Amino acid sequence: MINIAPSILSADFSKLGEEIAEVERGGADWIHVDVMDGHFVPNITLGPVVMQAVAPHTNLPLDVHLMIENPEQYIAAFAAAGAHVITVHQEACVHLHRVIHLIKEHGVKAGVALNPATPVSTLSEVIDDLDMVLIMTVNPGFGGQSFIPGTVRKIRELQTMKEERGLNHLLIEVDGGITAATAPMVVEAGAQVLVAGSAVYSKADRSAAIAEIRGSVQA
Ligand code: DX5
Ligand code: ZN
Repeated sequence: MINIAPSILSADFSKLGEEIAEVERGGADWIHVDVMDGHFVPNITLGPVVMQAVAPHTNLPLDVHLMIENPEQYIAAFAAAGAHVITVHQEACVHLHRVIHLIKEHGVKAGVALNPATPVSTLSEVIDDLDMVLIMTVNPGFGGQSFIPGTVRKIRELQTMKEERGLNHLLIEVDGGITAATAPMVVEAGAQVLVAGSAVYSKADRSAAIAEIRGSVQA
């Protein structure tokens, strides 16, 4: 089962509620919310106030990707705003174990993201506690960037670690440059949640865009 999570980063922010409702009608499985602080990444997007405003516009799980420093300061706010899963960056957390458990204490599923330069082995000591690992397939900060092919090897390595430890529940998510052309190779490597920003929102027909990605990974 492959979940497709359109990223609202590429949506029209002047009508976010409508943009989210449209991809839900179009067959999306999750809604991916990119939070950027202008420090951890060079871009600034939205915070819990905006997320809380859009949450009532969908029944789909809200997949919150925190590309921010000191994410522990904002877990409570994003949990209250309706997050289903909160993903923090390994590179942004000195006390990663503590942050993962803080997320879980709020009744939210916990994910950790790895930048392209960060090895899978850095999760060795915490992976048993995780609900999801996000392998970044671009350097975070912007939508519409090109997929980095070398990240496929990391997805495979994570899939192997998952199998070796019997972590059947652990979801593998990928984010960045995912299209109908790149989706087959990440799914073959083990990805189960596909984030797609520009591949969905840059198209006039969002339903067709989602169907095209799904069709590329289903026999
Ligand atoms: C990148 C964000 C992504 C972004 C993906 O920093 O984390 O979620 O929206 O956009 P595309 O699919 O256009 O690469
Ligand atoms: Zn993202």
